[in-house]
Amino acid sequence: MNLLMCGIIGYLGKGAAQESLIDGLKRLEYRGYDSAGVAFHEGNEFSMARETGRVKNLAESVHKKASSSSLGIAHTRWATHGAVTVSNTHPHMSQDGKFVMVHNGVIENFGTLKKFLAGKGISFVSETDSEVLCNLIAYHYSELPEGEDRFIDAVRSALPQCRGAYGIAVLCLDYPETMIGARRGSPLVVGLGEDANFIASDASAFVGRAKEAVFLNDGELAILKGNEFRISTMEGQETQAISHPVEQISEEVELGDYDSYMEKEIYEQPKALENTLRGRFGEDGTTAKLGGLEGHEDELRNLDRIIFVACGTARHACMVGEYLIEKLARVPVEVEHASEFRYRNSPKAGNSLVIAVSQSGETLDTLEAVREAKTKGLLTLGITNVVGSSLARETDGGVYQRVGPEIGVASTKAFSSQACLCAMLGLALGRMRDLSPTDGQAIVDGLNKLPKLVEEVLQKGDQIKELATKYSKAEHLLFLGRQSLYPVALEGALKLKEISYAHAEGYPAAELKHGPIALINPECPSVFIVEGTELSSKTIANMQEVKARKGPVLAIAPQSVEIPPEAADDIFRIPDAHEVIRPILANLPLQLFAYHFARLRGLDVDKPRNLAKSVTVE
Ligand code: F6R
Repeated sequence: MNLLMCGIIGYLGKGAAQESLIDGLKRLEYRGYDSAGVAFHEGNEFSMARETGRVKNLAESVHKKASSSSLGIAHTRWATHGAVTVSNTHPHMSQDGKFVMVHNGVIENFGTLKKFLAGKGISFVSETDSEVLCNLIAYHYSELPEGEDRFIDAVRSALPQCRGAYGIAVLCLDYPETMIGARRGSPLVVGLGEDANFIASDASAFVGRAKEAVFLNDGELAILKGNEFRISTMEGQETQAISHPVEQISEEVELGDYDSYMEKEIYEQPKALENTLRGRFGEDGTTAKLGGLEGHEDELRNLDRIIFVACGTARHACMVGEYLIEKLARVPVEVEHASEFRYRNSPKAGNSLVIAVSQSGETLDTLEAVREAKTKGLLTLGITNVVGSSLARETDGGVYQRVGPEIGVASTKAFSSQACLCAMLGLALGRMRDLSPTDGQAIVDGLNKLPKLVEEVLQKGDQIKELATKYSKAEHLLFLGRQSLYPVALEGALKLKEISYAHAEGYPAAELKHGPIALINPECPSVFIVEGTELSSKTIANMQEVKARKGPVLAIAPQSVEIPPEAADDIFRIPDAHEVIRPILANLPLQLFAYHFARLRGLDVDKPRNLAKSVTVE
């Protein structure tokens, strides 16, 4: 079986498709980069190019062939099963040569379908489920009478036979002016431009080329014909297409002077957070006003429990939220791995609110957790960065992060804005309950200072580079913090391991003595994130315990916290700040630490091995 996450793009327009498809694939590469391919409609045949490895390999071979076709589809693959080979690379062609197709998702019953098609004399050249679907469409086509709708009817006949998830774009040799897209479970969006229309996994693929985007709902088909398009249900009923402006200007997805998206996105944080905060405070300056929560005030005031569901970095931001919301609003908060929540029979306790947090808004486990919560009749809210994403559409309300596209696989600016929104949510809920106006105002002041203070920390990037250089030989590192800085420790460890492949673990600082201290030796540095509260002295005592065992210690600490020289080898100072923004400030040096650490090892921080930006399979 061949489970795919992947990015797809199709072009139908007046000019040559080649450049738009390759550019689109480069922007979709965050979804997978095991192999990439493209197919062009050349009048009486399809021409194909497929390469293993990065899109740049494909770009070279496509450049040599130089197709002038104005109709084509392309794909970048992330494989969990099935070898990374050219024959498993999309696009796939039907045995009769009449259809080519790109697919993102998994056809769970492909074995049965394959057997059925084999019985009809069809043979296969890849191990993929996608080739089976392509041939199933071709089979139905061969059974249908000639006519204008034969292509679309073949797609409509094949898809209901499939169990699983798909986002597809498909071409038929007999229809040189038509491209069909369809989705169930995997995202798909139509891009409308002046000279060309597109089908893609997400709108970043056609930024700068399309002005409007129409997001497909599950079970819908997009039929692009010449310069027209329509959306219909699988049964053939036309649905209204709601278009959104493609707001992100191309600069947001261009690297500019940076050598990686990760670096660019780290340094974008002051601006990104300004956008997250903009216009979101009440007029009296004591509370936060989040538009997406309007209409739910009564439910929020009477909440008995909040359950956050998220994965990876987004989950760490939720954990920051857990500490802050419990403190500010006195509402019990639980943070669940979305992948665990969706299969668990969590007891229904009073008025529970489920908040799903996802940068992409397409993480399958997070979406399934939301669906499970809705089945149980719970109110669901979403925090996401991607306008029109599945999460935005499937939750009862929610808040956009507004940080612009995050392309680097390692999440950076998205974490900061998610943690910021959690603090704002804590403030809003607190003020609906018993948080005083004075405390509310202090939090608003603290949050307003955030962009400036983030900038201050990032200006000391060279100091972090020196520290990363000093510690870059380490193969095992511990990250330790207390309370709302414990999730920061987890996030610091995750960031380091995912891009540098060094082994790192995050723990609550006091937990050290319950096991991890056994790892301490001169080769295993510990990074302590010091609070700047009455707990600081306890964390400093933990640092001394490590130093006593000859473990190197790097401390990240607020300016005013005194640290005895014998407690740390190195100290990186962050500005003193309100506790609600401290986790965000403390995380910045850890993002930069991981970035430099990995770069010093010569690694590609934007495309770490085995990972993909958007995890749309279980
Ligand atoms: C780590 C990272 C991942 C994501 C996780 C959830 O740097 O980026 O752990 O945070 O895959 O992704 P979203 O937020 O898109 O649901």
